[in-house]
Amino acid sequence: MPTVLNKSSSQKVEVEEGDTLYDGFQKNGQELPHGCLAGSCGTCLIEIVETEKDSLTEPRTIEQDTLNTIKEKNPHLKDKKLRLACRAKVVGNFSFKIPER
Ligand code: FES
Repeated sequence: MPTVLNKSSSQKVEVEEGDTLYDGFQKNGQELPHGCLAGSCGTCLIEIVETEKDSLTEPRTIEQDTLNTIKEKNPHLKDKKLRLACRAKVVGNFSFKIPER
């Protein structure tokens, strides 16, 4: 199973391949910030810090639209590797943090 480290809290969990990042942490008793759980509010925003190639599935349209809106409103995040924990599915090992907005 892929191992994922939350650098903001130093929590490391094993996530079942194909689970969303949010679900993977919740199954390990760790709650990540969230709102709609549908890819539209952006509350579950994470920034990828270190990753292997293809550790997460590609963002689908709703996630990409929300990420684009967040980057427009937060120019300091424009060049960061951002994802939504409720939509991104885990495939390999990586670490992330909760970005400042
Ligand atoms: S919880 Fe709303 S976008 Fe993820």
